[in-house]
Amino acid sequence: MEIKRIPTGIHGFDELCDGGFVKGSINAVSGDIGTAKTLFALRFLVDGAEKCREKGIMVTFEEQKEQVCLSASSLGLDLANLEKSGMIAVLPASPEQIKHMITEGGGQFETLAGQMKAQRLAFDSASSFMQLFADIAQAKKAAGDFFRLIRKLGCTAVLTLESDDPNSRAIAKMADSLTCLYHFRDRGIRKRALEIIKMRGTEHNPNSLQFEITKTGISVDPKKFAIIE
Ligand SMILES: Nc1ncnc2c1ncn2[C@@H]1O[C@H](COP(=O)(O)OP(=O)(O)O)[C@@H](O)[C@H]1O
Ligand SMILES: [Mg+2]
Repeated sequence: MEIKRIPTGIHGFDELCDGGFVKGSINAVSGDIGTAKTLFALRFLVDGAEKCREKGIMVTFEEQKEQVCLSASSLGLDLANLEKSGMIAVLPASPEQIKHMITEGGGQFETLAGQMKAQRLAFDSASSFMQLFADIAQAKKAAGDFFRLIRKLGCTAVLTLESDDPNSRAIAKMADSLTCLYHFRDRGIRKRALEIIKMRGTEHNPNSLQFEITKTGISVDPKKFAIIE
């Protein structure tokens, strides 16, 4: 069976993983505060809308719609316009609403995704509702229900995760791919790096590679290893 791939919109990333995310896969992007998880998710949705004509939904918990649009515009992404044209919907939600959606079934979100015929989804961050579950066993069950819902919609998803949340490990384990974003210091200079930890069905680059945030997005260099010199 041929595996279909979709471009991620992250410069240099698709070459690391045989051409991009597997279509219909669920992809975890984990990192600490400020490691560019939100920017990754935004770039993924905007590229889908602009280059692939794939509609997308960004479910956001920590940020208001205006803040999301502001972050996007700093990368030259016109999210507000894409919203106007119906290509992207930004959906601010409370973690409790999503917890309810997972435990009780799709609800409003599922209806919107169906009406829009969305093909890309981003939850930023999935940790904000995973943290609401009382223990790891409940978190595992919730992750299973959440994944079933996304798979039913048939979308390709990016779920950002806070790397220090133990409940979110259930999502990282179940996801089709896991990419870790992090900071490191090279003689006092803070640098950024990413690592594809796993990607099912893909011979991916296993190295820890530096990336930069430029005016046009995130750019990873396959030849620049994250070495402290
Ligand atoms: N346009 C930009 N150019 C350069 N760096 C940026 C730009 N926008 C954001 N950043 C950097 O990215 C960081 C935030 O990225 P963000 O995706 O919000 O992180 P996270 O979601 O992981 O907390 C900022 O603190 C800043 O260092
Ligand atoms: Mg963020």
